[in-house]
Parts: sequence; C-alpha cells; structure tokens
Amino acid sequence: MILLNGEIISKENASINIEDRGYQFGDGVYEVIRIYNGSFFELDGHFDRLKRSASEIHIELPFDRTTFHTKVNELRSVNHVENGHLYMQVSRGVAPRNHPFPAKSEPVVVGYTTEYATNETPAPGRAMFTEDIRWLRCDIKSLNLLGNVLAKEESKKQGYDEAIFHRGETVTEGSSTNVFIVKDQTLYTHPANHYILDGITRRAILDVAKDAGIPIKENPFTKTQLLESDEVFISSTTQEVRPIIEVSGNTIGTGRMGDVTAILQKAFKKRIPNSEQ
Ligand code: PDD
Repeated sequence: MILLNGEIISKENASINIEDRGYQFGDGVYEVIRIYNGSFFELDGHFDRLKRSASEIHIELPFDRTTFHTKVNELRSVNHVENGHLYMQVSRGVAPRNHPFPAKSEPVVVGYTTEYATNETPAPGRAMFTEDIRWLRCDIKSLNLLGNVLAKEESKKQGYDEAIFHRGETVTEGSSTNVFIVKDQTLYTHPANHYILDGITRRAILDVAKDAGIPIKENPFTKTQLLESDEVFISSTTQEVRPIIEVSGNTIGTGRMGDVTAILQKAFKKRIPNSEQ
C-alpha cells in the first residue's frame, strides 16, 4: 500500500499525472525516514526539515505535524514494516508545463515504505573525491538530484561505495551522505549551511559525540586534511555511521574502523528506538 494525497491505497490503483511538476521539473522536496523495530527514527526532525525544505521553495505542506504522524504510522502499520524506511515526496502539483509557478496547484504527496532484511550497518567502505557541481542550495532536500546521481554513478563505475564532494579544496558532503573526519581525537564536519544537507543522522552524531565528551568542530576541512586525518566516516538514514577506509586510492588512518568512529557508531545504535543494545 502507498500514500497518495492523504489516502492509503494499493500501488496498482495509484497514478501520477504526467503534468506533475515533480515529474517535469523536479519541483518538489522529499524525506527518507528510517524505521527501526516498528518505530520511526527522529520523525519530528524529518517533519521539520520537510516543512523547511518546502517553505524554502514556496510550497506549503498540505498537512500538519499531527496528520503527518498519523498517516506515516498508518502506512507503516498496514504494510507491517518493522525495519526499513519510508520515502515521502511533496511536489508543487499538477499544471500545464510552464516554468513560473502555476496560479493554482495543490501539492501532490506520495509516500511508500521499503522493508529491510537486516538492520546491520554497512561494512566499512571506500570513497572517491569528485568536484561538487551541484547548485548552491544543498540545504534544501530537493527532488533535483542529478548532481548527486551522476557522482554516485561515477563512484560505482570506479568500484567505490560513495563519492565525496569538494568545492575547490573544501570537502562538503557525500553524494547521499554527510562526511566526518577525526584528527587527534577531534571530530570535524562541514557546518550546516547552504553547501550541505543538514542530515538527521549528522545531528544525532553531533549529539552523541557531545555526550561522549568528544571535541567537535563544525568547520570546513580540505581534501588534504581529509587524506591526512586519522578516521573518516559518512552518515545517513540508510547507512548510519559508516567508516570510510580509503579515499581515491589513499588509505585513511590504519585502514580499519577508527576508535572514535567505533564509539560513535555504538552510541548512535543506542539511540535506535526499542534497540536491545
Ligand atoms: N540521503 N547529504 C545528502 C546529499 C543526502 O542525500 C543525505 C541523505 C544526507 C544525510 O541525511 P540524513 O542523515 O537525514 O539521511 C546528506 C537520503 C538517505 C537519500 O537521498 O536516500
């Protein structure tokens, strides 16, 4: 079953108009929300970010927080998803193709769930650097993901797990993740501004790092600093805290998961709803 404009219906009965601006222009925003042990992770944080993304592109969400909670829980429940994620997108709506906003259009909301066989964090991965060619509003979780898709595809083609973006010498984020480095026990990550998406996982990591007494610097760092760091990891809803042990052919630190990453990975897991750890 899927969610379409407030109704939970079977996928077979769902259709999207070819004049939906999400389809024609990528004119909309989205969220990917993790489900652990039958509960959503940081649901309010996702709602707030969706509302902000929508507002930044002048879309008013056609639902409030309470309705959002009710609908996503209903969908999770009818689909019996214990572990997985929910994808939700909101487009500006349907109108004859024309760049300016239509005078009148109702946002189109689509949601669906994906079930995971396991909750295991992906194994340590390898990444490559790639120039960040995206627009300058990466803080908006927009449906326009071409820059991200092209970078991820290139990294896959070259046998890597992720592409790490840089603007000139400055590392921004991954193609679908945030990037952290550890140097001399201090945690560094790009500040949450228009160059990156302020990840829900990123925020949870900064929170647990604070609790663990790990010094944090939300400062931009360079490619060289990343290569000379002791530890690198990426974070996202789907990959959680994932160590990166090689970047563009260079081994990071010991070539294994670092100590600070291990502490953060464990502390993050403890935040998971109904976790037994
Ligand atoms: N991607 N940066 C980018 C560019 C992302 O696409 C994502 C998430 C993140 C991490 O955000 P969060 O911790 O809230 O998942 C950072 C999602 C998972 C996706 O597009 O599939």
